[in-house]
Amino acid sequence: MASSSTENPPIIRNAWYVAGYSTELKPNAVLGRKLLGTKYALFRRPGGALGMVRAACPHRGSDLSRGRLVGDCLRCPMHGWEFDADGRCTKVPSQPDTQKIPPGARLEVAEIREQQGLIWVWLGDKAELCPVPAHDEWNPSPGRRCYFEAPRLWKCSFVNAVENAIDTTHIPFMHPATLGAGSRALYPRQEIIVDEDGRGFAGRDAPESPWGERREAALEGGPLIQLLGRLLGVGPIESEQYRFDLGGSLFYKVQYANGTWEVLVAHSTPASDTETWFFGVSVRTRGLHFLADVFQRWFARTLVDEDEDEVSAMLSNDPRESFPLVSVVGDEPLLTFRRLWERQSRKEHHGGRSGFRVVGTGGV
Ligand code: FES
Ligand SMILES: [Fe+2]
Repeated sequence: MASSSTENPPIIRNAWYVAGYSTELKPNAVLGRKLLGTKYALFRRPGGALGMVRAACPHRGSDLSRGRLVGDCLRCPMHGWEFDADGRCTKVPSQPDTQKIPPGARLEVAEIREQQGLIWVWLGDKAELCPVPAHDEWNPSPGRRCYFEAPRLWKCSFVNAVENAIDTTHIPFMHPATLGAGSRALYPRQEIIVDEDGRGFAGRDAPESPWGERREAALEGGPLIQLLGRLLGVGPIESEQYRFDLGGSLFYKVQYANGTWEVLVAHSTPASDTETWFFGVSVRTRGLHFLADVFQRWFARTLVDEDEDEVSAMLSNDPRESFPLVSVVGDEPLLTFRRLWERQSRKEHHGGRSGFRVVGTGGV
């Protein structure tokens, strides 16, 4: 089976990452967020448009995310320099308007999109821009309930956060109280289809897998659990599928036999080598009532607590702890992610050697 090591390849920049939620930025609000090792200031202009610039002020390096909006311009909290939508400095209060503003007084402006309640950012080569990941299920609609779990900064590597989102073989061991200790441990072989451009993949249990029964009930248990299931609108499962998109977006969908569905999404974004933002979103068409809302909130929060607790404690988060990793057949989806990630990273870093070796997943 394929092997790899705890030495991860450099973070890729030519990808869309989630930087935050639309609801985090009211008009005139400024928000600081560290992404891919650099602090950025995100803000919403009075007209509603979003902006995002590198937060380090080119004058003396104060943090512009502590500044405020004056009209459409971002004002530095230290000496009041003002920067427009293109990152140009338009005002230096300590000198008259007749004095020239140095051309270097300019901010790096990030490519940003707001879509389906999410703020997406591209921090790489703008010539390589590709479409922002989107799914019809994320569109707001009266027959759907959407829940955005508050952003969290996990103390772990990006690779470990993404692998945890993709991996379901940890469920019976890490989520005994929420998803059930009795969840299937045997993991069917996976049918994985990689996009032609190598920027994502879709997967599901292989229908002809000799290993493991298909999961048919979302909630297994006695009469009380069954009653809870009926209240929440959880019925027998018709199909399950997932999809991953580079940077770090994992989409997981359960289709119920009664025609309803639910989607769980984990967006991971590197903050630094040892910290990763986690944005969890869920959408459902089952149980469209208050009780199910409360349950959904509790369920999502507890599940993320359980994941964060264990993933943050992984020794492979520490870049100084270098050791080889051993993989098995049940790691197929994780290894597919690693393969795509490594390829893209190599492409961006021009054949730079990485200590990260993955030998494909075919034929295992
Ligand atoms: S540090 Fe920003 S204006 Fe001086
Ligand atoms: Fe988990």
